[in-house]
Amino acid sequence: MTDVELIKMAFKARENSYSPYSNYKVGAALLAKSGKVYLGANIENCAYGPSNCAERSAIFSALSNGEREFEKLAIVGTSDDICYPCGVCRQVIAELLPTADIICAKDENKYEVHKIGDLLPHAFSPKDVECARK
Ligand code: THU
Repeated sequence: MTDVELIKMAFKARENSYSPYSNYKVGAALLAKSGKVYLGANIENCAYGPSNCAERSAIFSALSNGEREFEKLAIVGTSDDICYPCGVCRQVIAELLPTADIICAKDENKYEVHKIGDLLPHAFSPKDVECARK
C-alpha cells in the first residue's frame, strides 16, 4: 500500500471523528505487517481528560485485534498544514511502532514521512523501566 493510499484512508477515518468540543477532526490509518489497516479518529469527552487522539484510537484497535508489528501510520488533521502527532501519541508510537514510517499529512499532495526517533528523540522507553526493576 502506498503512502497516498494510506492518507486517503486516514481521511475516511476522520469522517468518524467525535469532536464537538474542539471541532478539530483527526483521522489515522495504521498498516500492520499482516496487511490489515486499522482506522482511528479522535474521540472527545465533555470532561476533556478522557478524550483520545486518532493515532491512539488506531493503535489500540490494532493491538486489541492481536497486531504487534506495523509498517506505517498516516495522520491527517483539519488545519491548513501538516498534522503531527501530539506528545502523548509520540510516546505511545515510540513504544509500539518504533520502526514504522509515520506519515504526517496535510493531504495527498503535502506530507512528510518520519521515524519516531526523529519526532521524539531520547524517548522514555521500556528499557528504563526494566532497569529500575533489576
Ligand atoms: N488530536 C489528535 O487526535 N491527534 C493529535 O496528534 C493531535 C490532537 C485531537 C485531540 C483533540 O480531540 C483535537 O485533536 C484537538 O486537540
